[in-house]
Amino acid sequence: MTSKMRSILISTLLLNGILGFSINATASMSCGSRIESDPLHPNQTQKHDLACRQAPIDVNDQASLQRGAALFMNNCASCHSLKYLRYERMAQDLSIPPALIEQYMKLTNGKLTDSIDAKMDPVLQKKIFGTVPPDLSVETRVKSPDWVYTYLLSFYPDQTRPFGVNNTVIHDVAMPNVLDGLHQQVGDQAFQKQVGDLVNFLNYAAEPAQRERKIYGIIVILFLFIFLIPAYLLYKEYWKDVK
Ligand code: HEC
Repeated sequence: MTSKMRSILISTLLLNGILGFSINATASMSCGSRIESDPLHPNQTQKHDLACRQAPIDVNDQASLQRGAALFMNNCASCHSLKYLRYERMAQDLSIPPALIEQYMKLTNGKLTDSIDAKMDPVLQKKIFGTVPPDLSVETRVKSPDWVYTYLLSFYPDQTRPFGVNNTVIHDVAMPNVLDGLHQQVGDQAFQKQVGDLVNFLNYAAEPAQRERKIYGIIVILFLFIFLIPAYLLYKEYWKDVK
């Protein structure tokens, strides 16, 4: 095997490995499971993995991100922090006037440069819920937006649980169904849309620079394409005497 062939083979394998890993990482994410009795063996049970629902993510949909931010601040921020996102950055990125943030969204008396954290006492939270509500800054990157979307749409009544609800994604969940009031008020379809906005916002919060990153990526590729023309002409010029 020539060294050229070998290097082509190695780079193909590497590329395959990277692509395969990223595809597997998304495909393997399951959204909980359901235990059912086995029809062939009545004494046995079967565990079925539940597929995730697809979250409507669009990081360029500014209106959706703004609605999601408002929903998060009104319904989630009292228990969950977003430690890696500052109010000021959110105001800039989502074009929300700082005065509105100051008046309606900020949870503490701190500054706009503070991170989104209601500073709830974790010891008290542990006492109330049995577990501390986790920081959600990178939740959609750890679990995937589809997982979070499915989780928020999978609460069901269960009177044996402390808050009267359970969840198919996290079995015996410790979180109350805080969006139930909204769900009752607006109906299934509008509720799903609002949860979609909320997850869209959480997905933005997990990587606030992702919009710029994508724009820079396109600019760099464009530059390389345009640069190809003088590079090709130069190549022709340099080699014309040699050949
Ligand atoms: C009253 C407090 C409270 C509120 C309000 C609340 N949560 Fe939770 N949340 C919890 C607790 C407690 C858990 C831990 C659940 C468990 O592990 O059983 C949790 C877990 C979660 C998880 C799963 C984290 C993980 O990876 O295990 C997500 C996602 C989440 N909450 C999102 C939200 C969103 C979005 C909102 C707003 C709509 C919200 N929560 C409002 C208390 C709360």
